[in-house]
Amino acid sequence: MAATPPKVIVVDDEVNILKTIGICFDSIGFDTQLYAKPQEAQEVLRREKFDLAFLDLKMSPVDGMELLAEVRQHAPETTVIIITAHGSIDSAIEAVKRGAYHYLQKPFDFKELQLFALKAWEHHELKSEVRGLRQLLAESKDKDWGGFLTRNREMQAVLELAATVAESDLSVLIEGESGTGKELVAQFVHQSSGRSQKPFVKVNCAAIPENLLESELFGHVKGAFTGAVKDRQGRFELANTGTIFLDEIGELPPIIQAKLLRVLHNKEYERVGESHTRQVDVRVLAATNKNLDEALEEGTFREDLFYRLNGVRLKLLPLRERPEDVPLLIEHFIKKFSKDTPLEVSAEALKVLRGYRWSGNVRELENVMQRAVLVARNGVIERTHLPEEFLAAALRADHMLTLEELEKLHITRVLQQAQDYQKAAEILGIDPATLWRKRKKYGL
Ligand SMILES: Nc1ncnc2c1ncn2[C@@H]1O[C@H](COP(=O)(O)OP(=O)(O)OP(=O)(O)O)[C@@H](O)[C@H]1O
Ligand SMILES: [Mg+2]
Repeated sequence: MAATPPKVIVVDDEVNILKTIGICFDSIGFDTQLYAKPQEAQEVLRREKFDLAFLDLKMSPVDGMELLAEVRQHAPETTVIIITAHGSIDSAIEAVKRGAYHYLQKPFDFKELQLFALKAWEHHELKSEVRGLRQLLAESKDKDWGGFLTRNREMQAVLELAATVAESDLSVLIEGESGTGKELVAQFVHQSSGRSQKPFVKVNCAAIPENLLESELFGHVKGAFTGAVKDRQGRFELANTGTIFLDEIGELPPIIQAKLLRVLHNKEYERVGESHTRQVDVRVLAATNKNLDEALEEGTFREDLFYRLNGVRLKLLPLRERPEDVPLLIEHFIKKFSKDTPLEVSAEALKVLRGYRWSGNVRELENVMQRAVLVARNGVIERTHLPEEFLAAALRADHMLTLEELEKLHITRVLQQAQDYQKAAEILGIDPATLWRKRKKYGL
């Protein structure tokens, strides 16, 4: 429950019922106003706004239906619950059609009322959260920095800095966990620089075996080593007059660190197996998902090289530290992956997505949304369309799951553990065709 209690109005001309409701709501910490006279309540409803309104249906001279109309007009965001006696269910249903959230049938017991009220409050909170997010989406003119979307102040400052230094030839060190958008920022810097029409060459330092790295970066001549069947240009040469992006720089072995320092310092290098010195003009961007400060302390990364690379340092926050970006990126990826009309995300799914840890950051979010768009039907992404870990996390956090969600979680676990499909169906006590249908439904 939220920190501030909900503001609640209860209107019922039966004073005993009114008192019972009052005591019940006090016991769950609601901030409640009770009215036995509907005319008085009508006045109040014109002046004040409430989170929840419990309105008796049969009252005079003003009945619950009229009060409902009043609320819908003055405070449409209020969640209205109609209290109704047995026998007037039809009118209660009519009230729901006119915008009441639900109806509560008399007589009710204390526990039932408590549960009902808490549920209504939860519904109200979710609704206002969704409304707030929608408004945020609508209001903000989202500036994007070469496709990098963010609403986080700190990140916006980082990207403004990136835009400013792009025009210089300063080297830039981009730091951030895996999937936080380092490559996107590197591309942005290149695109915003005077070298944008020149080559942008990427080298993933961790993906190339140590014995090939020197030749990869600086090239080689025929016969320099076994397998060097002809002369070959290195990445520095290919990037000449443009930008080179050295990804995962923290993985560079010491020998290569020394050679890199030289080219950064003198703009000179030699191809492997050649004594002729070549000149090169490149802008260097580097990225790391490791903490280089630690590598410096341990002595595994050269300090002089670090200072060369670190003309400007751009630190990208992990996604969990900028939750305001989650809805923005969700919308972005839904648009990217939807063929026709973009899907919506249910309030429950959004809540789970916002609370997730995102250890794989934006890349993980992108994958989750791509999959959700594929499996969602009826135009809405529900919690069941998210990977199993999300449901498991919700379960651990003691969130209540729906039966469907529990079913999905359970089927996933059985499928993981059973040796084969037939066995899984047997364990679940259903026939294989049913299992197949359920897998399809949940996108397993
Ligand atoms: N802020 C953002 N706005 C839009 N798309 C983003 C954003 N950040 C990342 N992406 C997208 O997420 C994916 C991962 O980003 P990117 O490859 O730049 O991350 P990275 O930090 O280089 O990851 P790694 O360390 O795994 O190489 C890409 O598809 C990228 O376009
Ligand atoms: Mg990358």
